[in-house]
Amino acid sequence: MRASINTDIQEAARYLRKGEVIAIPTETVYGLAGNALDTQAVSRIFEVKNRPTFNPLIVHSYGLEGIRKFVSQLPQQIEDLADAFWPGPLTLLLPKREIIPDLVTAQNDRVAVRVPQHPLTLELLASLDFPLAAPSANPFGYISPTTAEHVMQQLGVKIPYILDGGPAQVGVESTIIGWEKDHTFKVYRLGGLSLEQIEEVVGPVAPRSAPSGSVKASGMLKSHYAPGADLFLGHIERLWEEKGGARTAVLNYRHQRPHIPFDQQYVLTPSGNMKEAAQRLFALMREIDKQDYDTILTEPVPNVGLGRAINDRLEKAQAQFKGSLYKEEASSEIVD
Ligand code: TXA
Ligand code: MG
Repeated sequence: MRASINTDIQEAARYLRKGEVIAIPTETVYGLAGNALDTQAVSRIFEVKNRPTFNPLIVHSYGLEGIRKFVSQLPQQIEDLADAFWPGPLTLLLPKREIIPDLVTAQNDRVAVRVPQHPLTLELLASLDFPLAAPSANPFGYISPTTAEHVMQQLGVKIPYILDGGPAQVGVESTIIGWEKDHTFKVYRLGGLSLEQIEEVVGPVAPRSAPSGSVKASGMLKSHYAPGADLFLGHIERLWEEKGGARTAVLNYRHQRPHIPFDQQYVLTPSGNMKEAAQRLFALMREIDKQDYDTILTEPVPNVGLGRAINDRLEKAQAQFKGSLYKEEASSEIVD
């Protein structure tokens, strides 16, 4: 099988109604989608992605009205967040109803829900009478895809269809916020919606902590979001002195370094626009990863707003070492 890439929503819907798994665009990253209420389709998602079933999936719907059917509680503050940010790069962990299969939530009593901001996918979701479970459409252990071509390169032989919505506009995954038993909010993953914006609506959100128990949010394991070369995050000139060479790439935040060969340098955002930096991050990492570099040197971006999610992804890429990309031992940690 080789996936066809197209923009036909009806064709996408036909595959999904048959219980098949396809790739769909969202504003954050591409998703690997199947009927969230059909355990066979959900099993197929885990299989295609080579993802352990203890790592739960996000359920996507066309709107808050759709999501009401899947969650057992929807407090006012959640409605406020939904009004402010959906459709958009925000995922909420809410108490689930029985209709959501345990496989989707990895036996957790909360389900992750989100309304993605993409015209094709919103129309697709509205045309279906079931929600879509969708993790990022990358093989387990690799960075998320931000174009249809990225998906084709890694999963094209495993799925029949990729709905092409162009390059992802946000470029990093959604921010995940949990609604906790004591009715406070807690961040599980930094992402495309800044904490500052969320806190304007619901007040303080508790910081991420290394969770206990079996369910942990994506990005909690260090070896994540990683390209194949060794990646070092820090002061670029100093790192270059120590590790620079013909097979070393440099991923700069804004400016090229005068003492480093220009053709080995990449720039995230020449204008210092954090939105642009997030949009380009994964595509640039893939581009560098395709060349024959042994080492990538990079630097943190300003740690505010979207910059926090970018730094988080860079830190995770740093923790990953060449060769071990697909050799992770199954553990109680969750990765994807
Ligand atoms: O932007 C995104 O969120 C993209 C697009 C496709 O929507 N999706 C995405 O899914 O990044 P995924 O599966 O790659 O990462 C979502 C993470 C999971 O790894 C999991 O750890 C966490 O969300 N998660 C999902 N359901 C959960 C639950 N019930 N409880 C705790 N964490 C959960
Ligand atoms: Mg993922």
